[in-house]
Amino acid sequence: MHRIELLAKSHDRERFDCGSELLNLFLKQTARQHAERGISRTFVLVDEDATAPIPILGFFSLNICQIKSESLTPGEAKKLSRDVSGVRLGRLAVAKSCQRQGIGKTLLVAAMGKFVEIFNMAGGIGLFVDAKDRDAKCYYEQFGFVPMPSNELELFLPVKTIQEALTPHL
Ligand SMILES: CC(C)(COP(=O)(O)OP(=O)(O)OC[C@H]1O[C@@H](n2cnc3c(N)ncnc32)[C@H](O)[C@@H]1OP(=O)(O)O)[C@@H](O)C(=O)NCCC(=O)NCCS
Repeated sequence: MHRIELLAKSHDRERFDCGSELLNLFLKQTARQHAERGISRTFVLVDEDATAPIPILGFFSLNICQIKSESLTPGEAKKLSRDVSGVRLGRLAVAKSCQRQGIGKTLLVAAMGKFVEIFNMAGGIGLFVDAKDRDAKCYYEQFGFVPMPSNELELFLPVKTIQEALTPHL
């Protein structure tokens, strides 16, 4: 079984390898600093009974963001004020040895759950993500993310889609 928790000193950041050096470096060098400075929060997925140094199987980071509603589709924009807030899924990565086992999906669902917690406290129109390339874009699209009109590698998952995805279907 796995659990998802805030990145802490007990996690083995050094050995994480998702195949993207930029994402590896973010986890090793930046994620904890960002958390301390209030820039973003990073959550890691680990084996439930692992002991320190705990191997990281995957991670994602979140931060609050501001968006001009004119950057959304006209249909979305007309319902909103000019400046709105959302949550950015800044990074998402799974260790190479664990890819294609559903961990990315588990992390995305957890990120949606965190978004709902923030939404319930302070609002927010949805989750935003910058896909690093077309493969990543396709990955996000299968979960309902839609490309922004101004930049197809920036994608948006509206609050309504998130709530529907997290509502258990009878
Ligand atoms: C992209 C990434 C997060 C996906 O995580 P994962 O745990 O391997 O993916 P999942 O097992 O949840 O995949 C679910 C489905 O998504 C699709 N999928 C998986 N990886 C994909 C990719 N790179 N591109 C497009 N679709 C992909 C598949 O349809 C897969 O189902 P299948 O295995 O039954 O075919 C992971 O491969 C990764 O960390 N890659 C390197 C870093 C990266 O590209 N991060 C994206 C941030 S921009």
